[in-house]
Amino acid sequence: MSKVSEQTLILIKPDAIQRGLVGEIITRFERKGLKLVAMKMISLSEAVLREHYAHIADKPFFPGVAKFMQSTPVVAMCWEGLQVVDAVRKITGITKAREAEAGSIRGDLAMSVACNVIHASDTIENAQKEVKRFFKDDEIFGYEKSEYVHVYAEDERAA
Ligand code: PPS
Repeated sequence: MSKVSEQTLILIKPDAIQRGLVGEIITRFERKGLKLVAMKMISLSEAVLREHYAHIADKPFFPGVAKFMQSTPVVAMCWEGLQVVDAVRKITGITKAREAEAGSIRGDLAMSVACNVIHASDTIENAQKEVKRFFKDDEIFGYEKSEYVHVYAEDERAA
């Protein structure tokens, strides 16, 4: 396992699907230098939704989040890179999008705390669970990304 093979899960949420922001969001991750290793469009089942949002199941806003997240399919993606979980959280911006830093995905593209365009794993441990929740092993692709020689220094790419 090399240092650049840390993985994180992104869900492009229904507001971004409706607003035609899928390409813009993917472009931001591509331009950052991250490696796309899995992607699919899916409708969130009741079971997956309950598991994914178990930590907010008791919150009064959970039914609203559930309804919103099932209002259209979502795009699930797995991105890879050096310390990618933290890097992606940084470019995602804080949950309450209208207060998110300008330049971040939420800061530039959203105003809401629920309709905040993407979900991003918050810790390495959760990222591992979330990638497994959305992708089978054979849906995650391993390949050489040629631009890595320009994205990382040699010691950063080393195993
Ligand atoms: S985060 O970004 O996951 O750390 O956010 P968190 O604060 O843990 O919130 C989890 C998800 O719940 C949504 N959320 C809300 N929806 C509606 N109203 C309120 N007040 C609210 N607070 C949080 C938020 O969009 C988070 O969704 P995900 O998919 O995790 O980004």
